[in-house]
Amino acid sequence: MGLLQDRTALVTGGAGGIGLATATRLAAEGAHVFVTGRRKTELDAAVEAIGPAATGIVGDIADPADLDRLYEAIAGRGQGLDVLFANAAVAEFASLAQITEEHFDRLFGINVRGTLFTVQKALPLLNDGASVILNGSTNADVGAEAFGVYAASKAAVRSFARTWANELKGRGIRVNTVTPGPTDTPGLSGLATDEEAAAQFRRILAAQVPLGRLAGPEEIAAAVVFLASDQSSFVTGSSLYVDGGVNQI
Ligand SMILES: NC(=O)c1ccc[n+]([C@@H]2O[C@H](COP(=O)([O-])OP(=O)(O)OC[C@H]3O[C@@H](n4cnc5c(N)ncnc54)[C@H](OP(=O)(O)O)[C@@H]3O)[C@@H](O)[C@H]2O)c1
Repeated sequence: MGLLQDRTALVTGGAGGIGLATATRLAAEGAHVFVTGRRKTELDAAVEAIGPAATGIVGDIADPADLDRLYEAIAGRGQGLDVLFANAAVAEFASLAQITEEHFDRLFGINVRGTLFTVQKALPLLNDGASVILNGSTNADVGAEAFGVYAASKAAVRSFARTWANELKGRGIRVNTVTPGPTDTPGLSGLATDEEAAAQFRRILAAQVPLGRLAGPEEIAAAVVFLASDQSSFVTGSSLYVDGGVNQI
């Protein structure tokens, strides 16, 4: 028996990086996992890799109509939803002087508005005792240059977890944030202009981490499985740092 035997889970942004690693672990623990993402080819490949315990639904979390379609599909399975990992987000650099309205709207539209409606629209489907996990970031606590809008979006997400944990406690629904440090994913490397710059960027970030390396996406997934399962039954409203010590020491 896995830790999540016969549960139903949703991972947004589940076609790559931390989302794919987590969807893979949730399935290995016995859950049926819905995964969503905007690119069909990547999503199909992820579903194929995870196996028969996965269902892919193409969609953008920033589009309420896509969220409605996603939740219709989950409702059609007839088991409600036990685990919601609101993971999808985007990151881009822009200093205060460089920020445009488009940059702000894109990051807040996906990371904040999209996360909010991902959870709000799940409410009728969430089973009593469900676990909601939001993906935060260590950047929410620090002032990394040219990362202000992303950092603020993740601070908003962390704040949502506190409020929603309070609002949903009566249904036994726990809401927590997982807070990754730098993690080796396509999204992280995509912040650099080319592969050489990405390798240099990964080296610089790794040197800032007390454990001396980036996290693997499966290390974040392990923490999400803990928060998703009954192993964390007395944990709500909290933030679980999986950061190699970068924000701790
Ligand atoms: N990697 C890190 O160092 C790190 C550190 C702290 C926190 N995080 C957080 O961890 C989460 C995952 O990051 P990652 O590094 O794994 O990113 P990633 O490699 O870029 O993967 C993100 C996934 O989300 C999907 N996605 C993006 N926007 C979406 C949208 N609007 N609707 C639906 N799906 C969407 C992408 O697929 P499509 O493009 O096909 O939609 C992609 O598969 C994010 O919340 C990120 O902020 C990452």
